[in-house]
Amino acid sequence: MAGFRIAVIEGDGIGKEVVPEGIRVVEAAAKAFGLDISWDRLDWGCDHHARHGRMMPEKGLDRIAGHDAIFLGAIGWPTVSDVESLWTLLMPIRRNFQQYVNLRPVRLFEGVPSPLANPGDIDFYIVRENNEGEYSEIGGRMFPDMDQEMVSQETILTRFGCDRVMRFAFNLARKRKKKLTSATKSNGIIHTMPFWDERFRANAKDFPDVATEQYHIDILTAHFVRRPASFDVVVASNLFGDILSDLGPAVTGTIGIAPSGNLNPERRFPSMFEPVHGSAPDIAGQNIANPIGQIWSGAMMLEHLGAKDAANAIVGAIERVLASGENLTRDMGGTASTTSLGQAVADAVSKHPAKKVLVDG
Ligand code: NAI
Ligand code: MG
Repeated sequence: MAGFRIAVIEGDGIGKEVVPEGIRVVEAAAKAFGLDISWDRLDWGCDHHARHGRMMPEKGLDRIAGHDAIFLGAIGWPTVSDVESLWTLLMPIRRNFQQYVNLRPVRLFEGVPSPLANPGDIDFYIVRENNEGEYSEIGGRMFPDMDQEMVSQETILTRFGCDRVMRFAFNLARKRKKKLTSATKSNGIIHTMPFWDERFRANAKDFPDVATEQYHIDILTAHFVRRPASFDVVVASNLFGDILSDLGPAVTGTIGIAPSGNLNPERRFPSMFEPVHGSAPDIAGQNIANPIGQIWSGAMMLEHLGAKDAANAIVGAIERVLASGENLTRDMGGTASTTSLGQAVADAVSKHPAKKVLVDG
């Protein structure tokens, strides 16, 4: 029996409500496919901060470095500044564990209403650079509280960092429809973004079978709304990828269904799987959050760990439950609770688990 040890960080807000549903569904798949999963629950987050003055214990990362993966809910609560909560928990995990790819699938499911009149068949991936770019600590503030107060913040792009994420995106496109779109802004941002374009062209030479295109981020957001079905794989810097991966799920109905994998493709460190959304303080504690983003993140985790059949069973169950139109949460136009949707997906996994995948797609 394959065994996996998973570090679980529910975190804050709706993270505490959707993670148990993710575990419920992954457990149902584990039972059906003979996987033995142990869940190591860590109480890190803003409550931990209230008790101990920090988001996670000292040397917290050492504790999870040997796990097979990390299953995270969401981080952030109004009692702690977002800068503190993000930069002392989420960012250290993503950076110290070299999770330089943030992979975010975008799909329109039957049964989930899109805000677009003619959405078409939306099914693409956003590959967001996850370690450098616009989210950098380099910069500072001078003359605080004086008339000449000033701030600066540097964007950091490295050849190494661009190449490794772009190559991941090219390889992913190669396995799909062989089309890769790059998000840029090399007309306005005149040092880093032309460099991004340069590396994109250089890497493209090694993938002559993949068609490439690039758009400035402003018009690309318009294309995401006007013709989302035309994309296959989109590669973007940290900030642009972050923005695009809220917009993508929004055109497929709700951010509540969007999953993500923070991947260390070399597998030197554990990868981390979490929904795209945050802790949603506005709806936390009401059992109305959509758990699908968390559940689908669980499927991505199983796929990463090599349990492809179990992962496919979960995605198949999500498809069937959403298409049935029953058990939809409020953000998808229904009235179901977080727990009843999670239970419905778990039941669907248990009922029809064994759709064996014959061809490795
Ligand atoms: P958010 O994603 O938490 O919420 C945005 C809107 O989407 C809210 O109206 C919320 O109710 C709704 N929403 C989000 N997830 C939903 C779900 N599963 N089902 C139904 N509706 C859902 O983003 P916001 O409000 O900008 O941030 C709130 C907190 O979360 C902040 O502290 C922020 O820093 C943090 N955050 C953490 C992330 C992470 O842990 N990776 C990612 C994004 C934000
Ligand atoms: Mg975001």
